[in-house]
Amino acid sequence: MKALILAGGSGTRLRPLTHTASKQLVPIANKPILFYGLEAIAACGITDVGIVVGHTASEVKAAVGDGSAFGLKATYLPQDAPRGLAHAVLIAKDFLGDEDFVMYLGDNFLVGGITDIVHGFTIRDAATAARILLARVPDPRKFGVAEVAKDGSVLRLVEKPDHPPSDLALVGVYLFDARIHEAVAQIAPSARGELEITDAISWLIDHDLGVNSSMVEGYWKDLGDPEALLDGNRIALMAIRPSIAGEVIDSKIEGPVVVEAGAKVVDSIVRGPAIIGRDVVLQSSYVGPFSSIGDRCAILSSEVMNSIILSDSTVDTVGAIEGSVIGKFAKICHRSERPSATKLIVGDHARVELL
Ligand code: TTP
Repeated sequence: MKALILAGGSGTRLRPLTHTASKQLVPIANKPILFYGLEAIAACGITDVGIVVGHTASEVKAAVGDGSAFGLKATYLPQDAPRGLAHAVLIAKDFLGDEDFVMYLGDNFLVGGITDIVHGFTIRDAATAARILLARVPDPRKFGVAEVAKDGSVLRLVEKPDHPPSDLALVGVYLFDARIHEAVAQIAPSARGELEITDAISWLIDHDLGVNSSMVEGYWKDLGDPEALLDGNRIALMAIRPSIAGEVIDSKIEGPVVVEAGAKVVDSIVRGPAIIGRDVVLQSSYVGPFSSIGDRCAILSSEVMNSIILSDSTVDTVGAIEGSVIGKFAKICHRSERPSATKLIVGDHARVELL
């Protein structure tokens, strides 16, 4: 069994972060989303992983390297443009050979791992060519949606339907055997110009090859937009193991908090779950629940709650920040000179909500 993890794509919903960075490397609880997926793959005993990369290939390679830090052997598979999830399978054909594989979307976050699901696929009957994962969602119109028989076999899949046949959305983890290669070679691009994995799976169903399904029991989210990212961050922070490696001076630490080595918390309150990264300076500030403060940030005379701040950013004397995602090397500070107006130098597709 091999794994194929998708770390290309365009990440338009996460702009402006994705103008300069890979969406899969945006951190939740200070760890890149992609690493959770790689850890889940390694935990089920798979060692050979193909990583589909696009225009952010060099950044993904720099972060994952040869995969050995995860107990994996990584092979990078460049995709010239985001031509669809089935296109990613198409370009991975030589890497995958005839083996069964798990395909994992690199921006998906699943709590509880995939070990049982992967094991379930290895003991299937010969007629079954694929297994998909499903989760109930309140608004299925934004997802691929499945119609499923009582025994779990998949009858039909539709991509982002106006009139969903069920509330069962496709989760970004799929199990395939080698018969998927013929399916991805047979289908044509959809109206949006992509080779859709739902079309490839429908091809299997139409050719009487078995596609069955498993329900995801734990938390699952596609962390493709800022609200989802904050939600995933909250869930990831709930699992942190409190530890204080940095310095805490004249400060209060309440609830589960990680203060990484080199960080300095002075005259401040940190209320967990929260993580304060390496070499952070936290001075005369409050960091509230569900906040992840990236390495080398400075939080000075400010309050931060329910937010993600990527590395090397400064928040200085700005009152309270809530529900925010702040990129790397950003500077948010109080303006003392006149005119007493808000001054903004923000990147393309940024979103700023002022009081
Ligand atoms: P999506 O979230 O469907 O697509 P996207 O990354 O282009 O994002 P957006 O809709 O915001 O523009 O992709 C799911 C995952 O698969 C994600 O990790 C990116 C990856 N992907 C590829 O590697 N190659 C592709 O051709 C596509 C479409 C996605």
